[in-house]
Amino acid sequence: MDHPLRHSPILTPDSGFATSNPPDAGTTARARPHDLPSALLRWYDDHARDLPWRVPPALGRQGHLADPYRVWLSEIMLQQTTVAAVGRYFAEFTRRWPDTAALAAEQDEVVMAAWAGLGYYARARNLLACARQVSVVHGGLFPSTEAELLKLPGIGPYTAAAIAAIAFGRQAAVLDGNIERVLTRLHGLTIPPRDNKAALRRLAVDLIPAHRPGDHAQAAMDLGATICTPRNPACGRCPLSLHCVALASGIADKLPVRRAAPDRPTRNGIALVLRRQDGAILTIRRPKSGLLGGMLSVPTSGWDDSPLVPVPADARILGEVRHTFTHFHLRMQVLLAPAEPRQKGDFLPVDTESLRAFPGLMRKVLQLALAEA
Ligand code: ADE
Repeated sequence: MDHPLRHSPILTPDSGFATSNPPDAGTTARARPHDLPSALLRWYDDHARDLPWRVPPALGRQGHLADPYRVWLSEIMLQQTTVAAVGRYFAEFTRRWPDTAALAAEQDEVVMAAWAGLGYYARARNLLACARQVSVVHGGLFPSTEAELLKLPGIGPYTAAAIAAIAFGRQAAVLDGNIERVLTRLHGLTIPPRDNKAALRRLAVDLIPAHRPGDHAQAAMDLGATICTPRNPACGRCPLSLHCVALASGIADKLPVRRAAPDRPTRNGIALVLRRQDGAILTIRRPKSGLLGGMLSVPTSGWDDSPLVPVPADARILGEVRHTFTHFHLRMQVLLAPAEPRQKGDFLPVDTESLRAFPGLMRKVLQLALAEA
């Protein structure tokens, strides 16, 4: 059977893809059938993921909106992190700090320790700076417009749009990786999303419904996360399948085209575990700016800009840990040495519980030391 909305073919006659958007992408009525946003919302009403920062669709239909503090917190946590990884942290943060004022009043180290393991620690520092700015400048209430939200620390265009739409019902265009993939397939776009931001934004704006724009954004996120997945999309269960150009062209699983990722270099470093007789380990707090900024660590060197640590003559090699940061892979040799009796500094007993205050890389390092205890 012919596809009802078949667009012009977008594969080149030979092997590769055309590297352009279809000429009508985002500009014609055909690209925005009126029933498309409602089909997405109807699907969301039945299939929305049950997530702790959300207002369920039954309430969304009645005009209820989610708590801006919880929306903001979830969006910051979800940057670069999966929904599954965030759940436990979100529950812990909202239990300990139920609102902006409570978080703003907390000590930096306590929040950094609660964030440990989520990665991208600049987010945690910005989180605190933002909570404090909202408390001081806005009387504890998040502003509702994208323009005002954008002035807050750690809030970029995506997060501002998500908060404005989800917590304030504004018609903001929310574009994350999931939504970009949905739009790219829906319109059969063969330009890598990273090089196609302006067109994707226009297409996203075209789809925003007058009612429930926040649920619309979250529906698109859920569709991307559960149906329009990067590999093996479940097109048979997709509420937009009748409109999907990529599906009609048989290339849903070939899109989005990826821009070749630059190779990540490998850096080498050493980590020094200085252990006292009682088992406590020398810890430092890393400088606020830079990698793992503000986090607990053991002394390290060689892989960042910090000065070389003096290695005691009786240090022995425990092993090597590997860790990947955004821009490089790290191979870190872990050395263990007994601490001098008069060694000054913050010694912490390290066990599986206290390990949770350390970032992921340091957990790997300390696991090696624990295994040696
Ligand atoms: N990823 C980022 N924000 C999200 C949200 N509100 N719901 C589901 N996934 C998300």
